Amino acid sequence: MNRIGIIGAMGSEVEHLREMMHGREETVAAGRTFYAGKIGNIDVVLVCSGIGKVNSAMSAQILIDRFGVDAIINTGIAGGAKDAKVRDVVVSTEAAYHDMELRLVALSHPYTEQFAADEALVKKAEKACAECGIACHLGKIATGDQFISDKRIKEDIVSRLDPNAVEMEGGAVAHVCAANRVPFVIIRSISDNADDGAEIDFDTFEQLAADDAAKIVVAMLKQM
Ligand code: ADE
Repeated sequence: MNRIGIIGAMGSEVEHLREMMHGREETVAAGRTFYAGKIGNIDVVLVCSGIGKVNSAMSAQILIDRFGVDAIINTGIAGGAKDAKVRDVVVSTEAAYHDMELRLVALSHPYTEQFAADEALVKKAEKACAECGIACHLGKIATGDQFISDKRIKEDIVSRLDPNAVEMEGGAVAHVCAANRVPFVIIRSISDNADDGAEIDFDTFEQLAADDAAKIVVAMLKQM
């Protein structure tokens, strides 16, 4: 792999990676700053995309078009589903939107698109979790423009998509990568359970979980 794009939505998800970079050059595009440089021996371009699908999709397309990245890693935090607990990591095998609602026309227009992550990147992420002593779940990430903090909303998403984690960017990064045939993986450390206690847990675990995901990214880069 020659050049790896790394996307995190919030400062807490990218700050430590940015501090680790050397030979860092900054470019502003579409109102966001892209940091090109190295982590260890690997060329990376890091961006703090901002929250949500449009922000992350724009950032992914710019990484591909302007910086010519060969793969994209989306790092950050998520709400846990199924057996993914706070501080576990979910590595995407695939990603999908949970807020693409076509119920009224579902019989004639079912929307079931899912975007498969790159198997080699998934394996590297799994190995990185083992090296860091962090519990790893391989599974689906469900993405939407909504912070999930309601048990009933979570249950609805789980009943439709059966994801291991819910968050707000991964599916859009996956969509852009699939359209451009660029390999991707999403690494999400669980900060909350996406239920009625999510906001409190998020405040408590945001930085700890974001740091765990960033650690996994660094351990992955060492394998490249
Ligand atoms: N990111 C972290 N926790 C989340 C949640 N509960 N819903 C959406 N995105 C999240």
